[in-house]
Amino acid sequence: MEIRVAILTISDRSSQGERADLSGPVLADIAARQGWVVVNQKIVPDELSCIKSILVEWADSGDIDLVLTTGGTGFSPRDVTPEATKAIISRLAPGIAEAMRTASLQLTPHAMLSRAAAGIRERTIIINLPGSPKAASENLTVVLPVIPHAVQLLQEDPNSEAGHQIQAPA
Ligand code: MTE
Repeated sequence: MEIRVAILTISDRSSQGERADLSGPVLADIAARQGWVVVNQKIVPDELSCIKSILVEWADSGDIDLVLTTGGTGFSPRDVTPEATKAIISRLAPGIAEAMRTASLQLTPHAMLSRAAAGIRERTIIINLPGSPKAASENLTVVLPVIPHAVQLLQEDPNSEAGHQIQAPA
């Protein structure tokens, strides 16, 4: 099954060219190594309206199975990625964010400061990841094993039953 991924980097400084976007390419690399197809990549500032409108455009296009966002999930006043995400999804997927925080707490207590959300709009899964390349990659690694089955279920793939057999690595 082909999984079409779009990656959204959310950063005031990267959107203005003041800081290189390192996390977007790291996520694209991980996705490609899974055999997923990265169909879109964009950088937007930490603005609620910008984030919401690109998420809506991507989810409603029908061409994207998974959106990974990176950045804007912390406590700084400009961090509004979870709010933008929650405003446009129709169903929350709390287990995804809970799993990322639980696993990340084994690595750093700062995981408590991630307010990341995950959810579904139309047939697209949207997952917030933290902003640093290391944190984004650590968090994505946690959820990688469940993504194919999540996409199968959302697409009502007739083979989705077989996906129940897939076990997460110990
Ligand atoms: N999760 C993992 N696995 N590793 C990390 O280094 N950093 C944390 C947290 N989650 C981190 C992590 C930190 S320091 C913050 S502030 C929050 O993610 C939010 O990050 P963001 O504001 O860049 O989105």
